Amino acid sequence: MSYDKREEDVVTNLSNNAHIDDIVEQNLANPNRRRLMATGAGAAALSFMSLTGCGSSDSSSPAPVTPAPTPTTPPVGKVSALGFPAVSKSLADVVTVPPGYQASVLFRLGDPLNAATPDYRNDGTEPGASFEFRAGDHHDGMDYYGLSATGTRDANSSTRGLMCINHEALTPALLHANGVTLVSGVRTVPDECIKEMNAMGVAVVEIAKAANGTWSYVRNSSFNRRITTITDTILSGPAAGSSFMITKHSPNGTRTRGTANNCAHGTTPWGTYLACEENWAGYFRRVTAVDNPKRTAKELTSFARYGVAGNGREGWATATAADPNDTVFSRWNAERLGTSADGSDDFRNAPNTFGWNVEIDPYSPTSTPKKRTAMGRFAHEGAWVGKVTAGQPLVWYMGCDSRGEYIYKYVSNANWDPADATRGMAAGDKYLDDGKLYAARFNADGLGEWLELRFGVGNITSTNTTYAFANQADVLINARLAADAAGATKMDRPEWGAVDPFNGNVYITLTNNNSTLRSVALTDAANPRSYNDPRTNGTAQRGNPNGHIIRFAELNGSNTAVAFNWDIYLFGARAGTDPRTVNLSNLTAANDMSSPDGLWFGGNGILWIQTDDGAYTDVTNCMMLAAIPGQVRDGGPITVTNTDGTNTKAVTTYIGAASATTETNLRRFLVGPKEAEITGVTQTPDYRTMFVNIQHPGEDTAPNFTTRTYGSYWPDGGNARPRSATIVITRIDGGVIGV
Ligand code: FEO
Ligand code: CA
Ligand code: CA
Ligand code: CA
Repeated sequence: MSYDKREEDVVTNLSNNAHIDDIVEQNLANPNRRRLMATGAGAAALSFMSLTGCGSSDSSSPAPVTPAPTPTTPPVGKVSALGFPAVSKSLADVVTVPPGYQASVLFRLGDPLNAATPDYRNDGTEPGASFEFRAGDHHDGMDYYGLSATGTRDANSSTRGLMCINHEALTPALLHANGVTLVSGVRTVPDECIKEMNAMGVAVVEIAKAANGTWSYVRNSSFNRRITTITDTILSGPAAGSSFMITKHSPNGTRTRGTANNCAHGTTPWGTYLACEENWAGYFRRVTAVDNPKRTAKELTSFARYGVAGNGREGWATATAADPNDTVFSRWNAERLGTSADGSDDFRNAPNTFGWNVEIDPYSPTSTPKKRTAMGRFAHEGAWVGKVTAGQPLVWYMGCDSRGEYIYKYVSNANWDPADATRGMAAGDKYLDDGKLYAARFNADGLGEWLELRFGVGNITSTNTTYAFANQADVLINARLAADAAGATKMDRPEWGAVDPFNGNVYITLTNNNSTLRSVALTDAANPRSYNDPRTNGTAQRGNPNGHIIRFAELNGSNTAVAFNWDIYLFGARAGTDPRTVNLSNLTAANDMSSPDGLWFGGNGILWIQTDDGAYTDVTNCMMLAAIPGQVRDGGPITVTNTDGTNTKAVTTYIGAASATTETNLRRFLVGPKEAEITGVTQTPDYRTMFVNIQHPGEDTAPNFTTRTYGSYWPDGGNARPRSATIVITRIDGGVIGV
């Protein structure tokens, strides 16, 4: 199969924005194995079982400067050295952690969230509605929100908390008794669709640590809730209520139904959660041959740029036979079906209500989620808050996860007032509904620029010939087109970000790119490699199949800076490949990896890196590594000579210090089970408990329900169907993780 496991990602960036090669040419010349298994199906409490086994690119650019350290106060001291032996690569169907560590399963697909919902049978026979009260599928981004003994918010609690977990997507076949029922392209069993629509979205679940040190989720907690693709949701900010948002569900354009494809996430200084909507476009049905003739030229440009075309990824829009007027299914049909001028009698505008960051208050179980439109609409991987300083604007860094897409930031207009830390969603109204949106341009001289996406600025105008923007709501809804117009840099699929708590450096994973969009000719300083990474069987994998991690430092350490210095911290590669063109970071058996995706800084300065890989899977399952990564510009320039045998191109880039990617400072900590992505990681505030998500074990192998043969049997073992799950990792001696 392709090294890119997420084929739902459709390349839609056909802009002429530089892959910055032109500018480049102008300016630059055995560890113990711990097998993770669950106790009996349906058990809420699971025990530990360890078994065997601003400048521009021209010469007037300001000189790069090193920003001053930020004045943040990390909660604990900075870790200076990693303290565990590297875990070996593995193809086993287990979770492996270092010796001295233990792992247990906390919260699996289907686990019930109240007493009234039965234990999960894991045989596909549960009714669809039951998933309103069960763990969803494809656990992804998550965060921990501390609770006091009396059930109030306590950011310092390391024994009781609420976990917010994204359920990004589905392995649909495993949710039903005999796979998906599809007759001539029609979903003829509507309840299967209801189950799938409920198995996505977000879970809020209380978790607690017992006196014996084991963690479990609290099945009867009044905080437990599911937000699904069906949940009524508020549209908030500048694009809410605009003509672009009018649907049959909300004729005044202020609400929509639910959230979808929540990949990574974000946090706020006031204790709420941001569930970010990533590659949502594919869920909508819009048969272009039927619908295109009914749409305006602007609508067609917008649909093309966001990839809204096709039959609908899961076919939910076809499940209307039982109730033709039902909005639960028909809301996935984005074709113009009604006769109204404004779209109030159909769901032609429904795609405009997806692609946002969704704020959820985990401490308020009855609160209604809000989509924060000021932060822009794209394939939001996540939103990572930068340094928080009283009296200064707040900033969130964001990636758009598709090949050739952009990195963004959002800066609040309001200055941070610590008194708002207890105001919940009201604080969100203040800081997330009013701000400035920017896209990043990475220049070949090592500087970058933040390009403001504002109606009337530069080419973002009503006279733009590609897309005539009408107003700021139009700019936010079509942020990709605005970033095209501004001249942002096409990246190798931006995934997670993380902000160093000690110096404010921002890291973004660029998971991989293919040979079309990252050909030798299209390499640039910030995406500098195009190479072949042959699999063990000789199959070629070209482009940038292993990905890299870019990082940047705002000029003067300011959230409001419009320029930054950048370099590349880490290049993914298999050990032993050419150190001049592929293995630029000199990775070894202790830390070689491919397709970085999840990324998270503990407050103690350890950077955790997770993979969602299809390129190195001939040798190893996906993994998580720990790192002490240094800082922006602690290395220097290097020149990479890319060749595909026909074309050759030398690219100069900036790489971090070589010492940061030696085994001393970068080491594999965990390897997951078969055909799983490792994504989502957080810790308790004392850094003694870690939570990690194992997403879609066994997803690549078609299940055989007769022989009960699956691509993985994790976590339940035997011949059980595999299940996505959150796991808990602790040190056997109770110490801080990773040191
Ligand atoms: Fe859902 Fe960007 O991975
Ligand atoms: Ca991801
Ligand atoms: Ca990914
Ligand atoms: Ca995945």
